[in-house]
Amino acid sequence: MSDIRDEVRAGFNTLYGYEPAGMWSAPGRVNLIGEHTDYNKGFVLPFAINRRTVIALGLREDRVARVASSFADEVVEIDLAELSPEHLHGWAAYPLGVAWALGERGADLAAVPGFDIFIESDVPVGAGLSSSAAIESAVAIALNDVWCLRLDRPTLASIGQLAENEAVGAPTGIMDQSASLLGQKDSAVFLDCRSLDSEIIDLGFDAAGLVLLIMDTGVSHSHATGGYAERRASCELGARMLGVESLRDVTVDDLPRARETLDDVTFRRVRHVVTENQRVLDTVRTLRESGPTAIGDLLDASHLSMRNDFEISIAELDLAVETAQANGAIGARMTGGGFGGAAIALIHRDDLSRLQVAIDGAFAEHGFGQPDTFVVVPAQGASRES
Ligand code: GLA
Repeated sequence: MSDIRDEVRAGFNTLYGYEPAGMWSAPGRVNLIGEHTDYNKGFVLPFAINRRTVIALGLREDRVARVASSFADEVVEIDLAELSPEHLHGWAAYPLGVAWALGERGADLAAVPGFDIFIESDVPVGAGLSSSAAIESAVAIALNDVWCLRLDRPTLASIGQLAENEAVGAPTGIMDQSASLLGQKDSAVFLDCRSLDSEIIDLGFDAAGLVLLIMDTGVSHSHATGGYAERRASCELGARMLGVESLRDVTVDDLPRARETLDDVTFRRVRHVVTENQRVLDTVRTLRESGPTAIGDLLDASHLSMRNDFEISIAELDLAVETAQANGAIGARMTGGGFGGAAIALIHRDDLSRLQVAIDGAFAEHGFGQPDTFVVVPAQGASRES
């Protein structure tokens, strides 16, 4: 972490030729359970991880905004007066989209100074760990500070989501930015995506001798195209056909009636969301009553529901999950939006290396690319670094 901070400060200095006003960081996230429930106004249980995006920011005397990063070979520059989704493209749409979205939700962009930003991150891109929300959340807290906006964190999360929806063009929900901004050490964020009320839930992995392994398949995905938006549209269709505002209003007891009303595909999409909401509630209760060793069946059931009903898993994710289950994991599931990215396994510390070896072997045997497996720890959300 301090390494990245040093690199970001040095990168800023080299590029812009002056000392930044400060540095801020925000983490990626893992979703423990509650997939594709956020935009259905349901429940999610993600946690912030110990992989972060760090930014250095300096204020300018004019109204120009410049962004640069260690992962792109360009400095993108725009006048604050020109900020709009149509003018933002590629990676720069994430940080500059947040500046635009702040203007939509409270900042007077005609009155604030321009800025220079340099970004670096150790959140893997395309792994389903929300590298994009980490950038958005770091920029949101930084601009909130230097522009003296005093917006609270749930509002900053909705600003990150607005940037992602309008500037990046991915129709995603509120989960990722909420986890990145609200996360706390050793805990998950239990978020009601309708009221936006949240509660911090103790995970207790370490005390129970458990670790959470990320199994990154290396198959990358984008939510700005294809399957994610299709699934969202199916959920909206299902809600309309059932006469409710969102699938949050459908319970497990309503499913027999839904089966009669809906076509098979829409019914299965709905069944995933409805049962997944229930699994989030059950996971929170189980964590409180019995601790993390008791949540394995819920994780496994969530994966099956995504594989069979929501149909967002891929062969690599299924293989990672099955290999984990056969090699001592307490529970395993794909995490994030699907169609690629990573799966997670909750496993006793002593069984970890056996599982890592087994995953490598299984992927090689199936002719899949080499997966990347690493442990993540539930960590603190976005913060000012200096
Ligand atoms: C992506 C989106 C989130 C959420 C998940 C699926 O990570 O950014 O808003 O919808 O997919 O649970």
